[in-house]
Amino acid sequence: MSTAPVPVGPAGGPFDPSAGWFQHAVFYEVLIRGFYDANGDGTGDLRGLREKLDYLSWLGIDCLWLLPFYPSPMRDGGYDISDFFNVHPDYGSLGELVGLLEDAHHRGIRVIADLVMNHTSDQHPWFIESRSSRTNPKADWYVWNDDDQRWPEARVVFTDVERSNWTWDDTRQQYYWHRFYSHQPDLNYDNPEVGDTMLDLVRFWLDLGLDGFRLDAVPYLYQRDGTAGEHLPETHAYIRRVRKQLEADYPGRILLAEANGWPADVADYFGEGDECHLCFHFPLMPRLFMAVRREQRYPITEILSQTPDIPEGCQWAIFLRNHDELTLEQVSEEERDYLIAEYAKDPRMKRHMGIGRRLAPLLDGNRRLAELLYSLLLSLPGSPVIYYGDELLMGDNIYLGDRDSVRTPMQWSPDRNGGFSRADFAQLYLPPLMDPVYGFSAVNVEAQQRNPGSFLHWLRGMLVERRSLPVLGVGEMEVLACPNPSVLAYVRSGEVADVPVTDPGAPTLPPAAEPAMAGAPVALGEWRNWTEQVARTVAAGHEESDEAVLRSQAVLCVHNLSRFAQPAELVLSRWAGCTPIEVLGRVPFPTIGEEPYTITLGPYGYLWFDLTEHGEARS
Ligand code: NOJ
Repeated sequence: MSTAPVPVGPAGGPFDPSAGWFQHAVFYEVLIRGFYDANGDGTGDLRGLREKLDYLSWLGIDCLWLLPFYPSPMRDGGYDISDFFNVHPDYGSLGELVGLLEDAHHRGIRVIADLVMNHTSDQHPWFIESRSSRTNPKADWYVWNDDDQRWPEARVVFTDVERSNWTWDDTRQQYYWHRFYSHQPDLNYDNPEVGDTMLDLVRFWLDLGLDGFRLDAVPYLYQRDGTAGEHLPETHAYIRRVRKQLEADYPGRILLAEANGWPADVADYFGEGDECHLCFHFPLMPRLFMAVRREQRYPITEILSQTPDIPEGCQWAIFLRNHDELTLEQVSEEERDYLIAEYAKDPRMKRHMGIGRRLAPLLDGNRRLAELLYSLLLSLPGSPVIYYGDELLMGDNIYLGDRDSVRTPMQWSPDRNGGFSRADFAQLYLPPLMDPVYGFSAVNVEAQQRNPGSFLHWLRGMLVERRSLPVLGVGEMEVLACPNPSVLAYVRSGEVADVPVTDPGAPTLPPAAEPAMAGAPVALGEWRNWTEQVARTVAAGHEESDEAVLRSQAVLCVHNLSRFAQPAELVLSRWAGCTPIEVLGRVPFPTIGEEPYTITLGPYGYLWFDLTEHGEARS
């Protein structure tokens, strides 16, 4: 792991101008369609998301990741794009997107979006032209072949719906290549016009103000005989070309790779620090679920030990759940059977090669377990990515098709349609959850904001704590030996810059805004004034950041993966004489000596200790 000293402040827009802002950022993945419907037509939209920025700012996230918002026939949740240079009319307009970006930046929130480079919809005009003959100007923009026998080594990704990566086209009388659905033909990067056009696309969106991209399905850009068509050198060369463009004209913008592979293969997408800034760590995710079900740390420690060091200035992106199935591609067959037996007891919960459920139902609604998993997410090496609704422990609907099971409307209040939309119920893009356990009358933002003991408040508090411990962003990680296999203990340590950090949340809330926590309405103007005030405070902090002094920071994180209380004996003699301060309560624990240090953890308990802070206990 990188230990580069990076000045740290709340990430985002004017707040953290450092090139490494993403190493400290908390990302929030949002489905525009499902977030908030401002125009009352039953589908979430850009204006709706813009209206909810104060909520996101209150929650304390640093960067939004927008799922595809481009024109699309919507046969793959918008990943089947029919025009790369526009906004889906259901979501709004280019102007509204720019408005969203401005408002987000004003609050110090950055925004990245999906860039689907690998394929288009079969309704895209490029494909319609390409399939029309073998001689048209776009004839070679897609990958065509006379038979369907080429590249047999390439696996089919959606094995439950597609039999082959080739589909016959009657008009052109040839097969076309697709790594996903047959209605999503792959672009042909061997045609230089394709690569050039996609680079125009990158510039187009960055010029409009996006802060970067999640590179969807990036391993598959090229095909070569005798290979599986993944992670090819040509693909890496193309990513380097995109990165070069960013370095030249768009400093501070980022690339995040979606490459579902083994850590060593995925780490190649960092290049030598000249490809992607971040890569999702896919194999870690199912192992977190395995570890808590087996009540053993080994699945986690094993995958971490197989995770290579990454170049300076790069970062993993880690997550618990996202808009897709809980993918089980990166586990052994035996582990897959185990996870399916444990987490998909009803066969209707399965999706593609994984499980189509949200976090809370996966955990049987166990709040302690959810806290434990978030504690891991927020303290393991990598930038955390939170899926919309998981901050509330929202549920899922396994009776909906494909991955719509985890894409139901955000639950804002106990009102009609969960406060998501004023449209008639029948007009909604998907029905909101209405069951007694996870339905919107039981689980919603309004109720959780009013209840200081809610999961939402807990998570928000944890984000504040994480922000105050910059070493969790860039520090080294050392797993500590512990005789109890149910306990996972590690120390995150490194040099960090002491830049003033402002919590964008409660501690600085002006008195006028306090009632919001108690459910009283607060005028948007008040929120605006308040966020502006915070922006100014933090910006002022940054002006002083040149004088920032580097200091060492070390945080000990101890997790009990068992549902029963557990003791942990840790060898901490390296820190002998230090008084560990428990981070959440600022409670001093017994001073460390030469003997093994004993901690008792409650069921699914977790504790973070600052090993560097020796100041006063929190009053
Ligand atoms: C990856 C996306 O996350 C997924 O939702 C989509 O189906 C595939 N790419 C194909 O576009």
